[in-house]
Amino acid sequence: MNQSVGVPRPEVIRTAPLNLNHWYAVALSSELKKKPLAVQLWHQDIVIFRNQGGDVQALENRCPHRGVKLSSGYVQGNEIVCVYHGWKFDHQGYCTDIPYLNERQQLPPCRIRSYPVQEKHGFIWVFPGDPNRALHVPIPDLFEWEHLNYVVSVAPLHFQAHFSFLVENLMDMYHGHLHRHFQPWGNAILRKKSAGPGWVEAEYQAECYFQINRPWSVIQLFIPQLRRPFLTSLIVRYEYPHWHSWLGNDFRLYCLIAPVNVTETRAYLVHTVSLGAFRDLHRLPVWFRRWVKNRCFNAARGFLQGLLREDILMMEQEQQAYSQNPKRRNWEINPVIGSVQKLVYQQAQLYSTND
Ligand code: FES
Ligand SMILES: [Fe+2]
Repeated sequence: MNQSVGVPRPEVIRTAPLNLNHWYAVALSSELKKKPLAVQLWHQDIVIFRNQGGDVQALENRCPHRGVKLSSGYVQGNEIVCVYHGWKFDHQGYCTDIPYLNERQQLPPCRIRSYPVQEKHGFIWVFPGDPNRALHVPIPDLFEWEHLNYVVSVAPLHFQAHFSFLVENLMDMYHGHLHRHFQPWGNAILRKKSAGPGWVEAEYQAECYFQINRPWSVIQLFIPQLRRPFLTSLIVRYEYPHWHSWLGNDFRLYCLIAPVNVTETRAYLVHTVSLGAFRDLHRLPVWFRRWVKNRCFNAARGFLQGLLREDILMMEQEQQAYSQNPKRRNWEINPVIGSVQKLVYQQAQLYSTND
């Protein structure tokens, strides 16, 4: 089978623009406290802050007076104040006050860009595209974040490579070889690949080493000798611009991708474990279940970070190899990769024709 049929050239994929008409998770809710926070999303500098009611606002991170970052300023009531000369801006980006304006002067009609923003499932989501579309585009349904039957861990990633390298990493389960010492899965075999508008899905059969089928199976997490590999299905799905997977019945992973620019990417890996094996769990008082959930929050973070360190090393090397010789073509035998590249390309095209 010729894997390169219809797949765009590397120079096109590795520089493909992001389709901005989607929601992007730019921060964890817990990362935004009283101080404004600077974030970058596909070449755009954005400041997010909480107003006095705790609602999140998102503005261009640039004071229209001298161009300094509003994230260096502070919040007063519902407005953000630039630290340099004290100009104030409301949530729509209008300048509402200049402390030294005299009676003969008027506020300049300057306005900075404001962004649709939502706080949901533990994250702050920004819509950097056409604001009129924001309401029609769903945010990924990461319901496990709140659900008391799931234990959640989250690990941020930040690396120097185009986001397509990350998606390919996440969709190519043959890279279990890289993580063989961590044993997240092993011996993957691609069983099925499907694709539709805006998504690609691949089903692998893989060996899994963890199974939460009895209350005491949690011990396997700490004692590798107790793990017994068993075959299960590993489904990975790129639903542009984010990714998620199911490993057997117990584990679900999300990768919320927020590219910074053409050679730099941020993302959050969210790991959820079902406590479905604890059949009487729902009989316990809600406060106790919440306590367990909170106590176990981030239990798998160290494990995730270990995997991510290995992945990041590979993705940055891929980017470096590409940058040294953009015209060189690699060999590929996993058909899922071609489908991923087509989707990255299609979404870039879609954005440029709609924009
Ligand atoms: S630079 Fe922001 S108020 Fe002057
Ligand atoms: Fe990996």
